[in-house]
Amino acid sequence: MKLRVLLVLVSCVLSVVTGLVLARGGSAATATGEKKVLTIGLSLDTLKEARWQTDRDLFVKRAEELGAKVLVQSANGDDAIQISDVEKLITNKVDVLVIVPHDGTAMAKGVRMAHAAGIPVIAYDRIIRDTELDLYVSFDNVRVGRMQAQYIVDNLPTPGKGRIIRIYGSKTDNNAKLFKEGQDQVLEPYIKRGDIEVIFEDWAEDWKQENAKKIVNAAITKFQDNFDAILASNDGTAGGAIQALIEEGYAGKKLVTGQDAELVACQRIAQGTQSMTIYKPLKTLATKGAELAVALAKGKPVVANQTVNNGKVDVPAALNDVVTVTSKNIEQTVIADGFHKREDVFRGAANK
Ligand code: BGC
Repeated sequence: MKLRVLLVLVSCVLSVVTGLVLARGGSAATATGEKKVLTIGLSLDTLKEARWQTDRDLFVKRAEELGAKVLVQSANGDDAIQISDVEKLITNKVDVLVIVPHDGTAMAKGVRMAHAAGIPVIAYDRIIRDTELDLYVSFDNVRVGRMQAQYIVDNLPTPGKGRIIRIYGSKTDNNAKLFKEGQDQVLEPYIKRGDIEVIFEDWAEDWKQENAKKIVNAAITKFQDNFDAILASNDGTAGGAIQALIEEGYAGKKLVTGQDAELVACQRIAQGTQSMTIYKPLKTLATKGAELAVALAKGKPVVANQTVNNGKVDVPAALNDVVTVTSKNIEQTVIADGFHKREDVFRGAANK
């Protein structure tokens, strides 16, 4: 108890001095003191994309190392299912809820339901808007967008000049808007001067590969190969875009961005059909996320290094850094970090 008070005091002092913020603890804090196995509820939007399977595995591993049990639910991109997943987890009396929302606005309801049951909520990777969220763990998502756009600007056949197609993510995902915001910050001056022209742009519903492919198919129908680059917001949408390029014989001839450093994307980078991806160290995110979840579940004070406004409150946030990956630094980044094995990345690549 004394230790807890001390930590609170230390963090209060820190918050005055450095702007550090404190997240609210869970109801487990008020328990009788008898030992119980902590239970974390993890509600995922989907497990259909490779990155979320990695997040789940790393999160569960760290939570179990800390002696907690994790109940995992995945909603297959359906808001109604995700709300009922959250209900199930609340009924199971989890000590803390960790949510990757499919729809960051609709999930405010889930936060209200959890709070009514005294359960704190962490938004994992994607923020939940307009609600009194307890904690947010993610990456600097605006910076992700800036890095994608900067890559395009620097690597166009004539740097800073060219014609581009833009594929945004899912409109229901706040991150998709943050990636676009970062991209816009970099591109706007070039677009204003008329140096860069966005010839086609659209949102890929639910981040789906096939929707991204349709966007590029439509752009090609209109402009044939009269463009230089595709600013795709993640590796899934990049995959759809590249499929459309392959069908027309343009693959490897246009710049294509991505994000997530998924194995298939790293293989495409090795083969030369995708130009870059953004590596977001999921181990750091999942490990920290699990540690913070356990701390909140125990009612321990959690110190975050910044806040992110979600439309209602300034949410204590822990945001991690990201890295641009190209064929030049793939060895020193994803491979050196053990995210993928060298032989897997270069499987089928002609140059290795
Ligand atoms: C994540 C990306 C992911 C996308 C689609 C975003 O919220 O930040 O890493 O590619 O969702 O799942």
